[in-house]
Amino acid sequence: MEIFAIANQKGGCGKTTTAINLAAALCLNQKKVLLVDLDPQAHASAGLNVESEKSMYDCLSNFAKPKLKIKEVIVKVRDGFSIAPSSLLLSTLEQEMAEDIGREGRLSAALAEIDHYDYCIIDCPPNLGILTVNAIRASNRIIIPVEMSRFSVSGLEYLIRIVDLVRQRLNHEVDFKILVTIFDSRLQHSFEIFDAMKQKYSGKLFNSMIHINVKLKEAASKGMSVFHFDKYCRGSKDYFSLAREIISAKESTQSTHQQAQKMAEILNKEVDKFLQAEFKLYAPEARDVYIAGDFNQWTPGEHSKFQQAKDGLWVKALKLRPGRYRYRFVVDGKWQEDPNNPVTEINHFGEPDSLLEIK
Ligand SMILES: Nc1ncnc2c1ncn2[C@@H]1O[C@H](COP(=O)(O)OP(=O)(O)OP(=O)(O)O)[C@@H](O)[C@H]1O
Ligand SMILES: [Mg+2]
Repeated sequence: MEIFAIANQKGGCGKTTTAINLAAALCLNQKKVLLVDLDPQAHASAGLNVESEKSMYDCLSNFAKPKLKIKEVIVKVRDGFSIAPSSLLLSTLEQEMAEDIGREGRLSAALAEIDHYDYCIIDCPPNLGILTVNAIRASNRIIIPVEMSRFSVSGLEYLIRIVDLVRQRLNHEVDFKILVTIFDSRLQHSFEIFDAMKQKYSGKLFNSMIHINVKLKEAASKGMSVFHFDKYCRGSKDYFSLAREIISAKESTQSTHQQAQKMAEILNKEVDKFLQAEFKLYAPEARDVYIAGDFNQWTPGEHSKFQQAKDGLWVKALKLRPGRYRYRFVVDGKWQEDPNNPVTEINHFGEPDSLLEIK
């Protein structure tokens, strides 16, 4: 399950709108999606017309009576799309968890109990308190919606620092990507800020962007996703494009992963193809004997040291791939050919190298 937290401490930048409509768009792409409403304002729950007695509070608080598993809290919105609703009580968690060890990991522990979703989208509150830190700790990626105003851009640095801190202190691999939201293409100012963002955060911006579109506001006030309100509007197109971008990024990572696995299998098979070559030298007076050749860049070392057997016999076994190799022995520092191998080839120094063919 891929987990995304939609976070930005700045209010009104499109977190909840993104959480609802991205979740709905992923679902339209046949993905199973869970939306976790972690904002005590419960806008995502309201934006989908979900009212429930049970909420994430019952699953995260130790004072909840009874304490529930996340599965017991989840409400189905429609096939393939469920929500774990929020409640105002969630705002008390900040105090409750103030002294608690491991408090950053409660959400991640709760989510570890479910596995039949392709994506989990977490809608965060507009602050950087313990709920947002829980969301960052539970996620693989943070989506940061940013509206094109100077104030949203300045708050960004701080949020990125928090993501970095979670990565380092909690030893949790998490990355972030910025989503431009409420983009008003009638304003020159939007383009100026967008250009500055592209320069500063190149590679960290989604290609898709969300334009200003009143239908997004209207859909939320009617308690539905924009796709159910007006599937042909700009807002629907933008969120659909974002979902496709996310899905194809995952699929390309998976295919890179699959390719790496295939490569590893091929290499493993290649390893099986190594064949054993045995070398012997009768040298009762010798103190040490090495072998060096094409297979070890002509560098004698521990890996190529002979063992003393008995009666002055030295032995060495090497695993080599099929091929044709030139080699020599190094006996007490002096290089010589293999006296047991009649096949030789004269090298650049006019000396005979022994030749070995492994099939
Ligand atoms: N692309 C858009 N075009 C027009 N209106 C939008 C767009 N995105 C969001 N809005 C509207 O802007 C307001 C704030 O959006 P939203 O609630 O998604 O922000 P938020 O970041 O979740 O806010 P908060 O920080 O309070 O949780 C809402 O009224 C919403 O309908
Ligand atoms: Mg919100």
